[in-house]
Amino acid sequence: MAGNTILEAKNIYKSFSGVPVLQDVHFEVKAGEVHSLMGENGAGKSTLIKIITGVYAKDDGQIYWEGKPVEINTYQDCQKLGVACIYQELSVIPPLTVAQNVFLGREPRKGPFIDYAKMNKMTQELIDKYQFPLKPTTVVDNLGIGQRQLIEILKGLSQDSKLLIMDEPTASLSGKEAEMLFKIIQTLRSEGVSIIYISHRLEEVYMLSDRLTILRDGKNAAVLEKQDIIPAKVIETMIGKVVDESAGSKKMLHSNDEAEVRLDVKGLTDKTDRYRDISFQVHRGEILGLGGLIGAGRTEVVRAIYGVDKAASGEVYLDGKKLDPSPKASILEGIGFVPEDRRNQGFIPLLSTTKNVALTNYDIVKVQKTAISDADELSMSKRAIEAIDIRPADPNKQVGVMSGGNQQKVVLGKWLMRDLKLLIVDEPTAGIDVGAKDEIYSILEDLAKQGVAIIVVTSDLQELLRVSHRILVMRKGDIVKEFKNVEVTQSMVLSAGQGVEEEAK
Ligand SMILES: Nc1ncnc2c1ncn2[C@@H]1O[C@H](COP(=O)(O)OP(=O)(O)OP(=O)(O)O)[C@@H](O)[C@H]1O
Ligand SMILES: [Mg+2]
Repeated sequence: MAGNTILEAKNIYKSFSGVPVLQDVHFEVKAGEVHSLMGENGAGKSTLIKIITGVYAKDDGQIYWEGKPVEINTYQDCQKLGVACIYQELSVIPPLTVAQNVFLGREPRKGPFIDYAKMNKMTQELIDKYQFPLKPTTVVDNLGIGQRQLIEILKGLSQDSKLLIMDEPTASLSGKEAEMLFKIIQTLRSEGVSIIYISHRLEEVYMLSDRLTILRDGKNAAVLEKQDIIPAKVIETMIGKVVDESAGSKKMLHSNDEAEVRLDVKGLTDKTDRYRDISFQVHRGEILGLGGLIGAGRTEVVRAIYGVDKAASGEVYLDGKKLDPSPKASILEGIGFVPEDRRNQGFIPLLSTTKNVALTNYDIVKVQKTAISDADELSMSKRAIEAIDIRPADPNKQVGVMSGGNQQKVVLGKWLMRDLKLLIVDEPTAGIDVGAKDEIYSILEDLAKQGVAIIVVTSDLQELLRVSHRILVMRKGDIVKEFKNVEVTQSMVLSAGQGVEEEAK
């Protein structure tokens, strides 16, 4: 049961380079309450959290902890109060093990030395307690983004906090992992722990929240009590327009598979057996959805087609021409790729939008001019910003400090500058707000109308049904089902991905 106010942030102001990001924001959390925070990409959610946890200094305002004014200048300050945070940008360090990451900076010691045995044991206890599919000694480098996110969560949980802040914790989790997290959240709440929960997934927020604060353009838009958290109202408050959310549980598929074949994949097989003998085609103007559970091998297959990883055997043809896949060759052949792990693979955080867009497109700028001028780069980045509504619309802004959703837009936007034959997008709307999701779907549809073949890998079933003309479902490295010119529902896709159909035979 929610009790007294444990944390209160009053009249918070923050600007970056003179641009106000938070203005007179008020936010409070009670003991034992799950308090969600929603708002469009760039609304200021993560910034508010970073001010509360001492990562950023506020320009003005006051934070109160259990009724008393406090100064939180570093993350350690907030840890001392009993606050832990799972940040949106994962902070796990790839060369270290799971245990080293969980106890980073808090390692148990034996004399002057780190007690690795004890650290691994403590980590194993946490893993057992929360039943995470992890091992203490695995080096993080070998793990996918979903598991990295679980480590980040474990790290947050290991601190026995009074307040746990989660900034989009489920963005890279599978449905099953997310379910586990929701149970953990409910248990923590019943133990009196407070939780600040940030997510763009409305269903999660409705299910979990006791209260919801909505930010809009850096200002308070509303605080809703549980009974007032009504979907239509929340979306309207957030973005100021009505979005049709009901569509998407069922769809009649119409594939353009009479059109010319653009991509022809034959017998693609992985070295380490994550997928085998994968054959399929994508036609001109067709959006092919790849469904299945996380770990089914979808990401690995599309990475092999684009050439980030090499397949052991199999062939890839584009417009009848055999490819020797590598990212460089793929770019030149007209293949675009938006990877699942945007932060590590999709963009260069220290560079501006202009440079990030230009890096993928130097060949185009070069063909047109002998020397690449800043003006050419700038005009291209302005086109990208406009095409996909990147905010802030500042070509010189470092992509690393942009909001998560806008980073994703940069990664997609740079491909829109090219004459594409094939575009592969892996979880294209992870971290994207509801309004912007629709914009991205329209962009994919427009590209398809221009003849681009598109592969969409997504774990969001509503999204899969919304965008696909045809759907292939993968399970444990095989294509197990095709949905083509039939009416399909979310549960049909889900059953195929879980192998329920096969077992029933
Ligand atoms: N370190 C920084 N330097 C400059 N600008 C920043 C910095 N951090 C955030 N911003 C800007 O502040 C604004 C709010 O960003 P923030 O990350 O808080 O948004 P958000 O609500 O978390 O969005 P998302 O849902 O996309 O994660 C954005 O315009 C962002 O570009
Ligand atoms: Mg954010």
